[in-house]
Amino acid sequence: MKNVSIFGLGYVGLSTAVCFSIKNINVIGYDVDKSKIEKLSMGIPTIYEEGLEELLKVSIKNEKIKFTSDPKEAIAKSDITFITVGTPSKEDKSIDLSYVESAATQIGEALREKKSWHLIVVKSTVLPGTTEGLVLKTIERVSGKKCGTDFGICMNPEFLKEGSAIKDTLNPERIIIGEYDKKSGDYLEEFFRQFYDNILPPILRTSPINAELIKYANNAFLAMKISFINMIANLCQVLPKADVEDIARGIGYDKRVGSLFLKAGIGWGGSCFPKDLAALRSFSRSLNLDLPLLDATMIVNEYQPINAINLVERKLGNLKDKVIAVLGLAFKAGTDDIRESVAIKLVEELIRKGAKVKVYDPVAMKNASMKLGNKVYYAEDSLDCIKNADCAIVATEWEEFKRITAKQFKELMKRPLVFDGRRIYNSKEYKNEIEFLAVGLGSEELEIPKVRMETFLNPALAVNAIVAKKEKILLVKRRNEPFSGFWSLPGGFVEYGETVEEAVKREVKEETGLIVELEKLVGVYSERNRHPGRHVVAVCYSTKIKESKISIDLEENEEAKFFNYRELPKNLAFDHNKMIYDYLKLSEL
Ligand code: UDX
Repeated sequence: MKNVSIFGLGYVGLSTAVCFSIKNINVIGYDVDKSKIEKLSMGIPTIYEEGLEELLKVSIKNEKIKFTSDPKEAIAKSDITFITVGTPSKEDKSIDLSYVESAATQIGEALREKKSWHLIVVKSTVLPGTTEGLVLKTIERVSGKKCGTDFGICMNPEFLKEGSAIKDTLNPERIIIGEYDKKSGDYLEEFFRQFYDNILPPILRTSPINAELIKYANNAFLAMKISFINMIANLCQVLPKADVEDIARGIGYDKRVGSLFLKAGIGWGGSCFPKDLAALRSFSRSLNLDLPLLDATMIVNEYQPINAINLVERKLGNLKDKVIAVLGLAFKAGTDDIRESVAIKLVEELIRKGAKVKVYDPVAMKNASMKLGNKVYYAEDSLDCIKNADCAIVATEWEEFKRITAKQFKELMKRPLVFDGRRIYNSKEYKNEIEFLAVGLGSEELEIPKVRMETFLNPALAVNAIVAKKEKILLVKRRNEPFSGFWSLPGGFVEYGETVEEAVKREVKEETGLIVELEKLVGVYSERNRHPGRHVVAVCYSTKIKESKISIDLEENEEAKFFNYRELPKNLAFDHNKMIYDYLKLSEL
């Protein structure tokens, strides 16, 4: 068997390293983080994953795995190097490839001193073109060697899920080998053939760029499938007697659809889907290409927690000072990971609305407290969480929440109103005992929303509609919006019971610290297909500043009334000061 080195000991790297080592492959793990190396060398895993610790200890004892802070040692002692460093999102949601680049640089430096042919395998999720571009070119430049003759390169994406990383690595459904040349592909295939032996899954040999794209397409498809069922869930919610659970079951029997990843809920989160979809979107935009299904997938997801809150609001009215219990903070059950967790977004939105939020999660409390600070009450357990609450929202599908009975909700809560955001309860049973709402569950009592849902095809139509009909408008503005410049215009959600004007004033104050008087409507921006099923416009009023806690230079404004976000400078969306300034410029029209 070949000896293997792993560059980057995060989730993927560590799980892969341990799985190789328990199958008698000599593995040497490298990471820049020295404290990580120390811990791992002592057999202490740096991530939580079922079964990992035991396997790590066995491999250390059998001397099959070792860890080093010296990249040269890692290369010298191995035949194949897997790059498994992180590819996080930058602030503008595009991909940050700096860890990949520094791994490639270190590999290049080490290869300079190596005589024998070496195979480099990119496992990190990277944008199409990165393996044969950034990685290959960096290694060639730094090592002075030639790919194809002195070393080989492959792209081999992973598809492991948190919570079942070991199982997924040992029993993959397929192996994708994106090869620079035949020699590299043959070498890696032979390695996997030996590793998987009699449980060899299908192997697809292809180009590196296809392998890179397969990973993105895979995650985008899965996220789309969840958003699809969530969209159907939203439809069910306004139709009495409809239930998305039965619909998912019904369509899931069709093999062409398949039953997995059809669980409706408050949305998908985690370390992969949000990051990868945003990176793919930003990448396609850089090629001036729209991927509308990707947009729709993200938009549906962004609104899932908001939809949940809207439903609760229709029962409770204004949420200010209402006590809301949120059960679950992890992005899914079985992990303490709160990265991009929809539960956390839900909590933040509730806080923004002035609710008093109580939270509980069996394992993610510590991580969540770093994010939520003292803005919420951290309950002792699930029953303490629901105690005296006006409403309880299930945000993560933990087993222990499933055990809370309707009777307990009834006895402990101030008002036994439950929103099942993960469909963990038997709705018929709970409906008999308590006020029960759930994602995708039709309810006779819920009236059709007053807000007319419409997307305007062009801004002029939107202006006309607003001016002529004086209807309530849902303004849209997301903080840290991953999408585009347009969203950076002050705007926001019309809160329950608020007029549009009040909402605009409040949002401007929240965003800029300015207290403004609205004079007249001067511009509306609307975009097609961005928020399916929603009346989405950004409105701009001319304003008079009444009070200001900050000073901003106002320049003569030559801006057009209606503008296209594509024409905005790229950095606009993320530069807060500039954003305020642009708003004020616009408001001077
Ligand atoms: C995902 C992919 O599944 C995996 O192949 C890839 O390598 C990394 O990203 P992971 O992030 O661990 O794995 O979680 P996953 O189990 O896929 O769940 C992602 C999110 O979707 C969670 O927030 C989960 O709650 C949500 N989800 C999943 C649903 O809302 N409904 C479903 O039916 C399935």
